[in-house]
Amino acid sequence: MDSQLKRTISALLLWLTSCITAQSEVFDISKYGATLNGDITQAMTNAWYDACASTTPSKVMIPKGIFKLNQIELKGPCISPIEVHVDGIIQAPQDPTQLNGDAQWIKFTYINFFTLSGRGTFDGQGAIAWKQNNCWKSNHCKKISMNFGFGFLNNTIIQGITSKDSKNFHVNVLGCNNITFTNFNIIAPATSPNTDGIHIGRSIHVNITNTNIATGDDCISLGDGSKQITVLNVTCGPGHGISVGSLGKYLNEEPVEGFTVKNCTLNNTDNGLRIKTWPSTLVTITVSDMHFEDIKMVNVKNPIIIDQEYCPWNQCTKEGPSKIKISKVTFKSIVGTSATQEGVILDCSSGVPCEDVVLSDIDLTFNGTIVATKLANVKPIMS
Ligand SMILES: *[C@@H]1O[C@H](CO)[C@@H](O)[C@H](O)[C@H]1NC(C)=O
Ligand SMILES: *[C@@H]1O[C@H](CO)[C@@H](O)[C@H](O)[C@H]1NC(C)=O
Ligand SMILES: *[C@@H]1O[C@H](CO)[C@@H](O)[C@H](O)[C@H]1NC(C)=O
Ligand SMILES: *[C@@H]1O[C@H](CO)[C@@H](O)[C@H](O)[C@H]1NC(C)=O
Ligand SMILES: *[C@@H]1O[C@H](CO)[C@@H](O)[C@H](O)[C@H]1NC(C)=O
Ligand SMILES: *[C@@H]1O[C@H](CO)[C@@H](O)[C@H](O)[C@H]1NC(C)=O
Ligand SMILES: *[C@@H]1O[C@H](CO)[C@@H](O)[C@H](O)[C@H]1NC(C)=O
Repeated sequence: MDSQLKRTISALLLWLTSCITAQSEVFDISKYGATLNGDITQAMTNAWYDACASTTPSKVMIPKGIFKLNQIELKGPCISPIEVHVDGIIQAPQDPTQLNGDAQWIKFTYINFFTLSGRGTFDGQGAIAWKQNNCWKSNHCKKISMNFGFGFLNNTIIQGITSKDSKNFHVNVLGCNNITFTNFNIIAPATSPNTDGIHIGRSIHVNITNTNIATGDDCISLGDGSKQITVLNVTCGPGHGISVGSLGKYLNEEPVEGFTVKNCTLNNTDNGLRIKTWPSTLVTITVSDMHFEDIKMVNVKNPIIIDQEYCPWNQCTKEGPSKIKISKVTFKSIVGTSATQEGVILDCSSGVPCEDVVLSDIDLTFNGTIVATKLANVKPIMS
């Protein structure tokens, strides 16, 4: 064999190997003009543009270090699977008005096969915004941006990263199909208003596993149209616990079905497992197949609560009962301590009573004694 042919064969073999291992092409933002402590909005936009057009799987890299980022939307569809890998600390502007009232600081939208990974932190620097926030008691308040908007994504994984001190909700999941959050961290002070952890709406097949959420509002909340949601191995606290709802405030809501919460700990939260609907609404959707199992409560204010007269700050009229029908709900093996004497409250609608509610292996104590159970418009099956 002559040496020319040998070289050609070995080059061919090398090419084949690289195809088989399918290394993703790396788009490092340092190559797009990003510098430490600098604003990377333009570099991210440009790196995303190239990575999204790549015909092979691509990876946008944000290296270690501190960077600043303004409002950004990274949009698909992309040609191939795409990953954003963050090892650095990315900071939002402190002044909320700099985000132009956009719903979210960082949006990832319309992508198939998207991964967000790394050990990095997205720091919303919310302290100034929290002082201005009155949205929790008023319907007419200034829009304050959330950290993340994950919109219309399919087959997505969010792993490893941390969302810190968001100005508003940390994460909003909307219109997604098959999205997994794993080894994800959320951190904000207990006193930060409206900093819900992960809010899900109009999405199907959402999994949240091995995640710690410490924040000032709901840990995980399900809005209308949430289906087949699984929460496994999650720790919440401080915060307001795991919530379905609130539902029934708006007219065009869709049903909520298929929610499994398993092997989770709620630690010092203001509510544990909660389903809340507004009274006297025209909405007639159903909430069904809600399963809560192997949950540990540590000093939780309302460990188990269904509240169909949810009406904070008198924002509603209590003229009639809720028309939202709740059925097929199980609370199984819920153990630990309650911070209030009424540990189990099932306050269902007098118009459409709850059906097929099972309470089994509930072992909750308040100050050393078994908690009280308050029931309205429901006949739970006890075992
Ligand atoms: C996601 O899946 C839905 C339903 O299959 C499809 O209509 C939509 O185009 C997909 N989105 C992307 C970005 O691939
Ligand atoms: C869900 O998305 C993950 C990550 O992209 C993918 O590996 C998996 O095959 C998807 N599952 C289904 C049922 O499509
Ligand atoms: C999400 O959880 C469900 C229920 O455990 C499981 O069937 C599904 O495969 C999980 N999806 C992913 C992408 O891990
Ligand atoms: C739950 O967490 C434990 C310890 O952190 C881990 O060993 C286990 O694999 C996790 N379970 C799942 C389903 O990921
Ligand atoms: C349940 O969670 C605990 C504590 O996080 C963990 O140690 C354990 O492995 C988990 N069990 C399963 C089955 O995932
Ligand atoms: C609850 O939180 C406290 C304070 O953060 C912590 O010391 C404790 O270990 C936690 N308990 C559990 C069971 O996670
Ligand atoms: C807790 O129990 C102790 C002893 O049984 C009692 O003296 C105390 O008043 C109780 N505290 C509350 C808040 O009920």
